[in-house]
Amino acid sequence: MASISALNVLIFHTSSKYFYKNIHFRSIFYHYIVGFTEELQSKQNQLNPNKMNKNILFEPYNLNGLELKNRVVMAPMTRCRSDNAETKATALTALYYRQRASAGLLITEGTYVNRMAVGSINVPAIYTKAQVEGWKLVTTAVHNEGGKIFAQLWHVGRLSHPDLLDGKQPLAPTALNPLADIFTAEGFKPSVEAKEMTLEDIQQTIHDFKQAAINAMEAGFDGIEIHAANGYLLHQFFNLYSNKRQDKYGGSIENRARILLDILDEINGVMDSKRVGVRLNPSLHDMQGMMLDGESVEVHDYIVSKLNKYNLAYLHLTEPFTDVSKNPLAIQQVAKHYRSMFKGTLIINRKFDKELATQVLNDNEADLVAFGSPFIANPDLVERFRVNAPMNTPDPSTYYTPGAKGYTDYPTLHE
Ligand SMILES: Cc1cc2nc3c(=O)[nH]c(=O)nc-3n(C[C@H](O)[C@H](O)[C@H](O)COP(=O)(O)O)c2cc1C
Repeated sequence: MASISALNVLIFHTSSKYFYKNIHFRSIFYHYIVGFTEELQSKQNQLNPNKMNKNILFEPYNLNGLELKNRVVMAPMTRCRSDNAETKATALTALYYRQRASAGLLITEGTYVNRMAVGSINVPAIYTKAQVEGWKLVTTAVHNEGGKIFAQLWHVGRLSHPDLLDGKQPLAPTALNPLADIFTAEGFKPSVEAKEMTLEDIQQTIHDFKQAAINAMEAGFDGIEIHAANGYLLHQFFNLYSNKRQDKYGGSIENRARILLDILDEINGVMDSKRVGVRLNPSLHDMQGMMLDGESVEVHDYIVSKLNKYNLAYLHLTEPFTDVSKNPLAIQQVAKHYRSMFKGTLIINRKFDKELATQVLNDNEADLVAFGSPFIANPDLVERFRVNAPMNTPDPSTYYTPGAKGYTDYPTLHE
């Protein structure tokens, strides 16, 4: 199993090594980010602007009653700019999202639902009053630009470290060490064995997701996305290697999926599910302390079938992050696999450019396409797509560093 930490931290890890120690920058993310940008530019140059102006990407979309001005979604991306005592979003965070508000829908970086959910430094959270006030700056800024924004609710589970948790052991379904490197205020430290969650811990976490949903509504978000992907707490419950519980949250597929459905049931009591999205990464393998197991497909199939009863805003899926083409345990084409199974709006993500996004929408494999790294360097991504303009290249060394550099200083076309 790869000794890699949280997705965000993984990228942080590689980029900070590059940035601080000036050593060779090597990771799959390096390849996909750099490869992606070069590939995108060459494709953009070949496109015919007249033909592309009528692109389905720019058509409005009705998301369960919420009017999106186009089908371009900004994927959730941790940016670690909340280097303040309360870890709250600031005017700088608001500026960053406002700059990108021409997307049909923005999904925020993962925001922690409680103190034990924390897995890296300087991430804006959503469990205190001050943090809610911070997010209000963001939602107001985005709405003033006519944009729509959902908050991604996040608990990292075992992908954390006592240094980030006031000395406490991270919580997880089972007492195991994910063998990851966790980014703390003092740099990277090896992960530790997690503490197995009691039933009380689980109930508290479900409650905290509900409270975070309430907080998100108070902060003025248009909706929320439950982060059940990328090897974090909820994903840890789904997986046979990370969940060895014998109680009603472990063992059978139904039991391992239960925590997510309990969270959705709870949230259903306080807000309309039509404003709730769920993110899954069913083919995540050899990353984030996560390995595919013999029931990874079945457990995700079961979850998706159950999601149908909630009339959710959307299901947000990612195509495989690593090469699983020879792995019989993986779903190779995630959007295709789940398109007919899920009855609502499907968002697909990972490594899309304008051409591929257009194709996936025209082929009706998804309704919306989420773009991650292209949005970091191109605040006006939609406009650039529209006029087939060249793209700015993202700089991974500033993905997680404090301040405006590499955050709000990427130029638009007009600049
Ligand atoms: C800097 C960075 C931070 C990320 N943080 C998150 C996060 O907080 N939550 C999440 O679900 N995914 C996160 N991701 C994954 C992205 O949402 C997306 O799945 C990934 O970048 C692939 O999309 P892309 O090929 O368009 O970049 C992050 C990715 C990057 C590059």
